[in-house]
Amino acid sequence: MIHCVCNNINTAKVDEAAYAGACSPKQVLAHHGKAFNCGQCRGSIAERLACHANTALMAEVSLIQDADLALAE
Ligand code: FES
Repeated sequence: MIHCVCNNINTAKVDEAAYAGACSPKQVLAHHGKAFNCGQCRGSIAERLACHANTALMAEVSLIQDADLALAE
């Protein structure tokens, strides 16, 4: 899926930037040496970044739950 038509930023490119630490649409574009033109992509990129944040949060919750179980044993 293309998120930013102006800069040809697709889902894989958003994911790549997120894994490298980008946490805003502006940072995603900057990761690829780009900047906003029309700005229509802000919402779409932000939604994709939110998916990464949720995934990371769930991974942390899982680690905490595993640690709690290990302590209870
Ligand atoms: S669609 Fe991203 S700047 Fe235009």
